[in-house]
Amino acid sequence: MRDVAIIGVKNTNFGEMWEKSLRDIFVEAGVGALKDAGVAGEDISSMYVGNMSSGQFVDQEHVGALIADYSGLARNLHVPATRVEAACASGGLALRQGILAVASGYEDIVVAAGVEKMTDISASSASTALAAAADREWEGIMGATFPGLYAMIARMHMDKYGTTSEQLAEVAVKNHFNGSMNPIAQYKNKISVDAVLRSIMVADPLHIFDCSPISDGASALVLAPADIAHEYTDTPIYIKATAQASDTIALHDRRDITTLDATVSAAKKAYEMAKVTPADIDLVEVHDCFTIAEICAIEDLGFAKKGEGGKVTAEGETAIGGRIPVNTSGGLKSCGHPVGATGIKQAVEITQQLRGEAGKRQVDGAEIGMTHNVGGSGATAVIHILSRNR
Ligand SMILES: CC(C)(COP(=O)(O)OP(=O)(O)OC[C@H]1O[C@@H](n2cnc3c(N)ncnc32)[C@H](O)[C@@H]1OP(=O)(O)O)[C@@H](O)C(=O)NCCC(=O)NCCS
Repeated sequence: MRDVAIIGVKNTNFGEMWEKSLRDIFVEAGVGALKDAGVAGEDISSMYVGNMSSGQFVDQEHVGALIADYSGLARNLHVPATRVEAACASGGLALRQGILAVASGYEDIVVAAGVEKMTDISASSASTALAAAADREWEGIMGATFPGLYAMIARMHMDKYGTTSEQLAEVAVKNHFNGSMNPIAQYKNKISVDAVLRSIMVADPLHIFDCSPISDGASALVLAPADIAHEYTDTPIYIKATAQASDTIALHDRRDITTLDATVSAAKKAYEMAKVTPADIDLVEVHDCFTIAEICAIEDLGFAKKGEGGKVTAEGETAIGGRIPVNTSGGLKSCGHPVGATGIKQAVEITQQLRGEAGKRQVDGAEIGMTHNVGGSGATAVIHILSRNR
C-alpha cells in the first residue's frame, strides 16, 4: 500500500443557495480544489462523489456522471466518476474510497468530493427524505425522523449520566462561536445558552438550536500518492488512517443507544492504524448533527469519559484554546449539513488547520487532526486521521 496525501481543497459556501443548482455548486468546489492543487483535468485518474439523495432533493440521479460531465471531465477525457452513498456519511466514505484507490496503486490523482442541494424542497419533505436513512420498517414508518431518534438518545443520556439541557446548549453555543469565524458557515451568529433553551422545541429535549440545519453545499479535495505530493504543494497533508464500521440500523437493536458502537469500532481501528492515542490528536471535526451527537462522539472517540461529554464541553475543554478543540469549522450545527458534502468538508477543515490556513479559528501548532462522519443514527461511522508529517 502507498502513503496518500491531500494536495488541494475547496468548500463552497454552505447555506441556502436558491440561485445555484447542484451542478453549479459541485463545479465550484471541484474546480477550486483542482486549482488549489495545481492539477489539470487530464491528470485525474478518477472521482468519488458523496451524495445521499439527489433523487429526492432535486430529482436527479446518476450524479457521478453528471458531475464528471459538468466538470468538463467526461466528453474528451472520460474520467470515471463513482457516486458513493452512506446517508450523512457519504462524503467520508467517498474520501475513504479515494484513499483506497490511490493507496492500492490502481489510481494516482483522485478527486474525492461531496455535494447535496437540500433546500429546493420543503423542510418537511427534506425531513422525510433524510428519514429514509433510518430503518424504514421499524422507525420511518412509525413517523420517526432524525430529530426524534436523536431526542431519544439525548433522553437516555440524561437519564443515565445526568446530562442537562444546559450542557447540550453549550455544544451549540461553542459551535456557533466557531462558525462565526468561518467565512463559509451557514449560520455566523453567536448564540447564548439562554437563547438555545428559549428556542422552539423540535423533539423534546432538542430545541431548534440543538439541530443541524437543512443546507446546500459542496466540498472537494484532491488526493495523490505521498511520494509525488511535493510536486504539487509545499504543504501536503498525509492520511495516517482511514477506518469504517457498521452497526444495527435501528436504535432499538443497539446494545446501548448512548454509545455509537460503530464510532468506537472505527476509532479503535483508526488509532491502531495511525499508531496514535486520543491524547495525540490536536483537533477533531465530529458529526454533531444534533448537540447530543457531539457529546456521544467525544466520549466514543476517547476525548471524554463515558457520561462526561456534557461536563467537559461546559468546562470549555472542547473550545478553540481548550484541551481538545472540537468542530472548529462550526460543525454541522453552525457551518451547515449538506449531507453528502459534510464528510469532505470535515477533511477540508482539518487540512486548512494543519496547513495553518484557518484564520481566526486556527488551532496553534496543530499537527494531527481527526474527522468523524456518521450515517443515520450511527449505522455507519467513518473516521480519518490526518497529519502534517508523513
Ligand atoms: C430543525 C429543523 C426542523 C428546522 O426546520 P424549519 O422548522 O423548517 O425551520 P425554518 O426553515 O422555518 O427556519 C426558521 C428560522 O430558524 C432558522 N433555523 C432553521 N434551522 C436552524 C438550525 N438548525 N439552527 C439554527 N437556526 C435554524 C432559520 O434560518 C429561520 O430563521 P429566519 O426566520 O431568521 O430566517 C430542520 O432544520 C431540521 O430538520 N434539521 C435536522 C436536519 C437533519 O435531520 N439532518 C440529518 C441529521 S442525521
